[in-house]
Amino acid sequence: MSSSRLPGFYKMKMAERLRRLAEALDEGHLDGLGESATLPLANADAMIENAIGVLGLPVGVGLNFLVNGEDVLIPMAVEEPSVIAAVSLAAKITRDGGGFTAGADEPRMIGQVQVTDVPSPEAARAAVLREKEQILAAANALHPAMKARGGGAKDIEVRLLQVGSETQLVVHLIVDTQDAMGANLINTMCEGVAPLIERLTAGRVRLRILSNLADLRLARASCRIPFEALADFGFSGAEVAHGIAEASRFADADPYRACTHNKGVMNGVDAVALATGNDWRAIEAGAHAWCARNGKYQPLSRWWVEEGALRGSIEIPIQVGTVGGAVKANPLIPVLLRMMGNPGAQKLAGIMAAVGLAQNMAALRALGTVGIQKGHMALHARNLAVSAGAKGHAVEEVARALIAAGEIKLHRAQEILAKMVRAQSPEVT
Ligand code: MEV
Repeated sequence: MSSSRLPGFYKMKMAERLRRLAEALDEGHLDGLGESATLPLANADAMIENAIGVLGLPVGVGLNFLVNGEDVLIPMAVEEPSVIAAVSLAAKITRDGGGFTAGADEPRMIGQVQVTDVPSPEAARAAVLREKEQILAAANALHPAMKARGGGAKDIEVRLLQVGSETQLVVHLIVDTQDAMGANLINTMCEGVAPLIERLTAGRVRLRILSNLADLRLARASCRIPFEALADFGFSGAEVAHGIAEASRFADADPYRACTHNKGVMNGVDAVALATGNDWRAIEAGAHAWCARNGKYQPLSRWWVEEGALRGSIEIPIQVGTVGGAVKANPLIPVLLRMMGNPGAQKLAGIMAAVGLAQNMAALRALGTVGIQKGHMALHARNLAVSAGAKGHAVEEVARALIAAGEIKLHRAQEILAKMVRAQSPEVT
């Protein structure tokens, strides 16, 4: 693609945006986006039990992202008005420092096989480790295609776990899931090797399921932003940078703050997860468990000031796929992945880490200076204008009038709109 900088995009009508996007992507059209974009009812019916409809959610584009020197457009599905505007601004600011450096570990996930009633835990552990190759072969026989692609079960770890008065065995099957998220694959493998593990340990296999604490599958991103790029709201760049760094130290010190700090990160990460057909609950669970790994809940990202610049970094487990059932079930997902340049799972994870870091920076930049309500309320005013029935240019006009009135409420939006309509067609009154 040419550039992820699309100036004035937010001011365009949706049809114009789609044309501009197609141009930027050198594509004639972007099938599925625009007015008719929704999940077909038949797909919804096949996806879940008791389906009765489809819930719409806005899909937008995070702009200005430069990740590892490459421009990338970020599809995001989210209901919170400020998320995409904020992340696009943060990405624009970060471009001045060369954008984001990002990457991710190989897509290795852990499958757990729990063994109880083990007569001799140490002997059982030794037996499992001795027969490691046999277990791996049994697991891989269940998914030969994955093995052929270079993935599949790669390693075994055995943990002795004290559960009450009992010492149980937990066998970890380490599986390279390639471009899949991997849940189904791993669960099948865990269930498949269970009888063999039972024989080897003389115990009783109980749970056989992946772990969402995907700590072998960490994604990282970092950036360096020169002070000059940060000046805003009447604050110098250095002041904004120090405000962000101070907010980061607050999150380091206080779990109450760290939780909200991380919510800001996940605003971006989850929106991309949704737009790319990924299981955001798995990512959420993994991220927060990872934050608590040292016994104290900690922030996912950190910001500090160094040599005339603001530095930021994030490390987060990201368990995502770019192939598989969920991706295929919704016809919009392949279009949105194509908009990103069809990344594989590992690349997508790195990009998502960069999005999380940018989203977090946007929040701290506002919080460390003027607060977030100013920006939020402006966007909220537009939402209220739409809810009041405003269309086209009237949305901006009503929103502006709401802000000027200092009362951003639905009834006020309705009054303003009614007044505007009366002014345009006085004969109606
Ligand atoms: C709101 O969705 C997210 C923030 O609360 C994040 C933060 O406080 O860092 C603004």
